[in-house]
Amino acid sequence: MSDSDTARITIDTKRVIGEISPLLFSGFAEHMGRCVYEGIYEPASPQADENGLRVDVLAALRELNYRSMRYPGGNFVSGYRWEDGIGPRERRPVRRELAWQSLETNQFGTDEFIRFCREIGTEPMLAVNMGTGTIQDAANLVEYCNAPTGSHYANMRASNGQEEPYGVKYWCLGNEMDGPWQIGHLDAVDYARKAREAAKLMRLQDETIQLVLCGSSSSKMPTYPDWDRISLERCWDLVAYHSMHYYANNLEDDTPSYLSLSAAFEDYIDTVAAVLRYVKAKTRSKHDVYLSWDEWNVWYKAREMSDKRGRWTEAPHLIEEVYNLEDALVVAQWLNVFLRRADVLKIACIAQIVNVIAPILTTTDSLLKQTIYYPLLMFSQMASGNSLDLLVESPRYETKQFGDMPLLDASSAHDEAAGRNSIFIVNRSLIEGMPIEIRWGDVAPKRITSAHQLSGDDPKAYNSWKDPNHLTTRPIYAPKIIDGVAQLSLPPLSFTALGVEL
Ligand code: AHR
Repeated sequence: MSDSDTARITIDTKRVIGEISPLLFSGFAEHMGRCVYEGIYEPASPQADENGLRVDVLAALRELNYRSMRYPGGNFVSGYRWEDGIGPRERRPVRRELAWQSLETNQFGTDEFIRFCREIGTEPMLAVNMGTGTIQDAANLVEYCNAPTGSHYANMRASNGQEEPYGVKYWCLGNEMDGPWQIGHLDAVDYARKAREAAKLMRLQDETIQLVLCGSSSSKMPTYPDWDRISLERCWDLVAYHSMHYYANNLEDDTPSYLSLSAAFEDYIDTVAAVLRYVKAKTRSKHDVYLSWDEWNVWYKAREMSDKRGRWTEAPHLIEEVYNLEDALVVAQWLNVFLRRADVLKIACIAQIVNVIAPILTTTDSLLKQTIYYPLLMFSQMASGNSLDLLVESPRYETKQFGDMPLLDASSAHDEAAGRNSIFIVNRSLIEGMPIEIRWGDVAPKRITSAHQLSGDDPKAYNSWKDPNHLTTRPIYAPKIIDGVAQLSLPPLSFTALGVEL
């Protein structure tokens, strides 16, 4: 801390960390619980359009402006036969889906997913089955999606109504294959061998596709980070991204530590980024592989997994986590971390997008925006251009899990073309408001054009169907910039997003 009690953020637009990839604001939709059925697709809902897609859900997803969408799983993909989900609906089989022990009707499949992506203006990111699926199945799906007509699977696409190739660019080589729970789980060497051959065939179908290799399914896995090293060493030249997954929790009900989880997120990225550097050096490669954090979110309250799962029903209510204020502050910090590691992290997909551990919940005819919706919205709308390396001077506090931590967690984006600087700040304090000064070193900013805040005095408060707008980002008074300094006061337990015209 500096000489006074005022916390300070100093911005220099020349201190660039990296270009912010728009794909950091991506989503993940799995055939699980009520994400696809009753979330995205519900023909019987009064909210359904002529294709059975829910217009209220589409509107919220458009507002969040997800840049890409990972699909169809998740654990689901490791038992998925993609050909079940195409062609006339009445001929599609109903299957017992083993990952979530649900009934899969296959009424929504690849073609419906692409239509849905087009509706919300997002880029599809398809995962192939590396569990029960073969490398041939994976290559066939690339042909179905991306080949011009004239061959079997491309013609099949055309006969299903889509003459032009879909041109799907992003492809995941399976899901969490390091996890013993995964259908068809493999050890690192066997996975790498299979992923490499799948990648080879898929790229023979379309050499322009970009592949995501399965990384560890969390930093808590016993095989972490060896799994990452081994799989990368064998597949480096064929892939563009390496995945990370992580679900945060406050199982110990230790809010001060929970609110410092960005330290764990940063550590996880730094470790896997070090593995990337090691493998690049070891393979003497000129090629770069970036990180794809393609499952991330808070998930711990709704854990009715092992005993119940889907009980062989259609669209069962599974892990419909209700998010409170402290969860939203963790999500905001996670997004701060994405900006602070924008040089190496290029894709991030929140898991998931509707009903299943999601920012929005639905009933047949209505939609609820949860607390985590709001930080996601702020970042998705405002974080563009370059990420900046801030100097943050902040009072500190003691946590059980991470020791001494700063009370402020911040990030910033500078979009030169738009003449905009955005600043995102979390005040982790449970009780103390914090006066703060923001200074710009190298530019003379004109004014703060927008100021929004999410805050409350109860970390456990949440939005409910009865009180849907209890916690939202609300506009606050935009402080004046005088002599290159803006002063404001951050309430405890708050997230603030400022837009500045430069
Ligand atoms: O998102 C829920 C599940 O969490 C996914 O299916 C799996 O990949 C992860 O373990």
